[in-house]
Amino acid sequence: MVGVLVRLAFHDAAGENGANGCIDWSTSAHNGLRPAVTQLDKVYAAHNFHALLSKADFWVLAANVAIEVATQGVVVPFQWGRTDALTCNDANLLPDPEGDHRHMHDVLSTRMGLTDQEVAALLGAHALGRMETSNSGFNGGWTTTQNVLDNSLYKIATKEPWFKRVNSRGFSEWVNADLPCNCNHSYCAQDLLFLNTDVSLFTDTTVGECNVFPGSNCTVDSPYRVYVDVYAANNTVWMRDFVDAMVRLCGVGY
Ligand code: HEM
Repeated sequence: MVGVLVRLAFHDAAGENGANGCIDWSTSAHNGLRPAVTQLDKVYAAHNFHALLSKADFWVLAANVAIEVATQGVVVPFQWGRTDALTCNDANLLPDPEGDHRHMHDVLSTRMGLTDQEVAALLGAHALGRMETSNSGFNGGWTTTQNVLDNSLYKIATKEPWFKRVNSRGFSEWVNADLPCNCNHSYCAQDLLFLNTDVSLFTDTTVGECNVFPGSNCTVDSPYRVYVDVYAANNTVWMRDFVDAMVRLCGVGY
């Protein structure tokens, strides 16, 4: 449950007009969020929370609590004052998991106003939770500790080689292993899955040997790589930057 609450905060912020307590359910990128929204709506209604804070504020608060639980105590400063929207159109606004680092920049920086560093820090949230075929067409987790929020995504990211494959739904995804699995490092057997956008944190997925030879190293760094190396080496620095970036993310549209 903790993962989906953090994902919801991102999707509300990335939708039309930023965090406004509105999810456009006709946008398939939101698949999988409905059970969490239904639960949150029930609590919000049962306690008359509308008298205290907007639904958008409540969702941000829920994500902050999830982060506190998953980090065993890290507090994201909470800001009030978001306004709810009754309708929204999120068509084509959410990032495409098969996109490269340029696409991430277009969506998260040019449109949403986040810096490269904030984007690099935010994507570490994928340490939490997993992907489900019925939601997104992907099936697997990014890490083996899916209820723990730490810098493990960056540690895994920097363990090359990476191999790109096409899954049963026809989507490109990456595994941290040679296929068939015959490498020596500990991540190999766990068949961890990264999206193209996750791999774009450290390499340009459109060029380099990464794309060509199974098990070859990724050769051309993405602009996010400099941060990934720092975050892989230091959980405290990542956590500090992640908290700041969450505040900025959830402030989009204020
Ligand atoms: C390039 C940007 C991003 C893309 C393309 C992306 C894509 C995805 C996809 C495809 C899933 C799997 C959904 C499912 O199958 O249920 C997912 C899950 C998740 N995302 Fe992202 N995401 C992005 C950025 C973010 C950000 C910025 C955050 C939070 C700060 C975030 C938090 C999460 C979490 C926690 C999950 C796991 C949810 C669960 O376990 O239910 N994502 N994301």
